Formats: sequence, structure tokens, C-alpha cells
Amino acid sequence: MQTVRVNLAERSYDVLVANGLLSQAGQHIAALTPQPRRIAIISDATVAGHHGEALASSLKIAGFKSSLHVVPAGEASKSLANAGSLCSEMIRAGHDRHSMVVALGGGVVGDLAGFVAAVFYRGVPFVQIPTTIVSQVDSSVGGKTGVNAPEGKNLIGAFHQPVLVLVDPEILRTLPDREYREGFAEAIKHAAIRDAAMLEDLAALDPASRDIPAALLARNIAIKARIVEADETETLDIRALLNFGHTIGHGIEAAVPYGQLLHGEAISLGMRAALDLSIRHAGLPEGDAETILGLLEKFALPLVLDDDIPTERIMEKLASDKKFVAGSVRFVILTQAGEARVRLDLTPENLREAVERLRMPLSTWDR
Ligand SMILES: NC(=O)c1ccc[n+]([C@@H]2O[C@H](COP(=O)([O-])OP(=O)(O)OC[C@H]3O[C@@H](n4cnc5c(N)ncnc54)[C@H](O)[C@@H]3O)[C@@H](O)[C@H]2O)c1
Ligand SMILES: [Zn+2]
Repeated sequence: MQTVRVNLAERSYDVLVANGLLSQAGQHIAALTPQPRRIAIISDATVAGHHGEALASSLKIAGFKSSLHVVPAGEASKSLANAGSLCSEMIRAGHDRHSMVVALGGGVVGDLAGFVAAVFYRGVPFVQIPTTIVSQVDSSVGGKTGVNAPEGKNLIGAFHQPVLVLVDPEILRTLPDREYREGFAEAIKHAAIRDAAMLEDLAALDPASRDIPAALLARNIAIKARIVEADETETLDIRALLNFGHTIGHGIEAAVPYGQLLHGEAISLGMRAALDLSIRHAGLPEGDAETILGLLEKFALPLVLDDDIPTERIMEKLASDKKFVAGSVRFVILTQAGEARVRLDLTPENLREAVERLRMPLSTWDR
């Protein structure tokens, strides 16, 4: 078993990574909380169908009483209305401030359940059992919880750290292929900003196999954990480094009809643009950029922007992004593979040009 400790004073917790952890969830949760505690499992319909039973029976064996609360799969479930309904359902199921929330699902469930845990009876402990790569290497660690507003994504939320995160690589076997591949965008991002040596480990993976080494997941989680420890609430520029590829990526994600591009796919395009800007404005060696692009290609992530997506629309979405402060953007660039910096001097015009260059085939990308 791999253990990554997230050190945040009295909010510290462990992330455990091992095959088969789902069916041992009960005993690991029992080890850190006095019994009897009631547990509200929050999941989505797809994940609950695959893995709900295994979790519920593991909790039962460990002596917990649990109730299952299911939302439809998909981003639309991350709403304030659903958070309210879940709180009401939990009250009716007999939960109170001594209860605990367990999130079983991808980032949508983790963010929603974490937010419910943050506000239910003014806050109850919660455990994350992430079931996608995105949630295993990224969203389940760090304590950002929340829901979407009609006006934009993740605009309503709270920092609420989990008390335990259980990462079971075997859970990924049921993940659809496209969602599996998109998750590698965040792993490649971690390597790009903090761990150039991990680029080689990612290159050695067979994208068709579902056997991700627990050590590779743990290494990704440790990168996220160290950054969160240094800047828990994103008040310094350190946590902002995790936004590599996300400024233009979010603009593209918001500019296309919902569902056309998965988050990791949009971020792949955003990383190509950020690499291009890094070469032009920060001296990133072209070879480093090519290594990173090669990995994105290996996981069949998109790197060329469709002509149907107008640059103007992307720029409009970009301007309304949280990262655009008073007309200047905090843009994350690489000086070399594994070394990221926040830059404040890139202009909207620089970004527009980079978006335009995303339409060129990869072979001419740096011309
Ligand atoms: N809090 C953070 O720091 C943070 C960081 C990154 C992303 N996020 C959020 O995470 C969300 C995206 O998360 P996601 O990419 O995990 O998507 P998701 O939670 O929507 O899951 C993707 C799809 O895969 C299905 N699924 C999940 N696990 C499965 C499994 N093991 N087997 C079969 N199907 C499975 C889900 O039902 C869903 O349809 C976004 O809302 C984003 O804002 C949050
Ligand atoms: Zn992301």
C-alpha cells in the first residue's frame, strides 16, 4: 500500500493507494472514527451501479449503518439544488452532526458531496473514494468543494478537506475509454509542472491497459499534495501552478456546446497553447515541449483546434474566467519540463495568437 500524507496541521489526512481498497473501505474508515457513526454514501447512478454494493457491504462488515444517496451521472448534478436535496434526504434518513459523508464517484460527486459535507450541520467529516483518474490524481485531494452556478462553473463552494482518501486503481476498470484517457491530461500536467522524470513513466504506460501502477498514482497525488500544503487556499501563486493549460483550456471548454469536449480534452489543447507561449516567451526548449505533446498524442488527446470553434468566442469566455484579474491574466508557463512559473505580462493578444496557432497541424505548430 502507498500512503501519501497531506500535512495541513489539524486538517491533515492520508491518501491510501492500493488495489482492492474499495472492499476494505469500512475497516480504514473505522480506524479513524469512533463507532457507531452513521455514514451517508453519495454517488452517481453509474458509479453506484458498478461499485455501490461493494462499498455498502464493506461499511456494514465494519459495523457502520449507511444510507445511499444517488444523483444522475454528469456535470449537471453539481448544483445547489442537488446539494439542498441531498441535505434534506440525509436529515430524513436520520443523519445529524455525528454522521459522516463518503463520496463514491468522479470529480462531480466528490465536489458535490464535499460541499454537502461542508455545510451539513455546519460541517461533518468526509471521505473521498475517487473513481476516475481525474478525481484520483487531482480533485479528491486539496479540499476544494463546490457546485456550479447557472452563471459559471464552481462559483459556489467551500474549502473542506477530507479526513481520508481511498484510491483503488482497480475501480478504473469500469471507466469508459474516453474518460480513462482524458484523465491522463492531468497526470501529464503534473509531470510538466513539477516532475520531468515522470514524463518517462507515463511514456512507458500502455494506454490500452487498465493496469496503472499504484506508485504512479501516488506520485501524482504527492505532487498535488505538496502544492496544496504550500498554498492551501490558493492565496499565493503556488497552487495556481496547477492551472497549467487551464486558462486557454477553460476558454475552449466553455466555448463549445456542453459535452463536445471533456475537461481533459480541452486541457490538452490548452497545454499545447501554453507550451507554444512558453517557447516564445519563456525560453522553453522545443524538445521539452515535444516530449509533452508526444504524451498527449499517445493518450489520443486532441491537439488541433476545430475550425468550428471561433477564436472570439474562446476569448470572450477567457475574459470572464476567474483567473483574468483586471484585464491581466495570471498565466502559467514552463521554463523547462518540470519547472512552471506564473507570468503576469502575457497580453490577451498573445493568448489570441496562441489560440489561432492551435488550428495548425502539429507538424507546423512551432513555426
Ligand atoms: N475540486 C477540485 O480540485 C477539482 C479538480 C479537478 C476537477 N474538478 C471537478 O471534477 C469534475 C470532473 O470530474 P470527473 O472527470 O471525474 O468526471 P465525472 O465525475 O463526471 O465522471 C465522469 C463520468 O464517468 C462515470 N464514472 C466515474 N467513475 C466511473 C467508474 N469507475 N466506472 C464507470 N463509470 C464511471 C461517471 O458516472 C461520469 O459519467 C468537474 O466538475 C470539475 O470541476 C474538481
Ligand atoms: Zn483540470
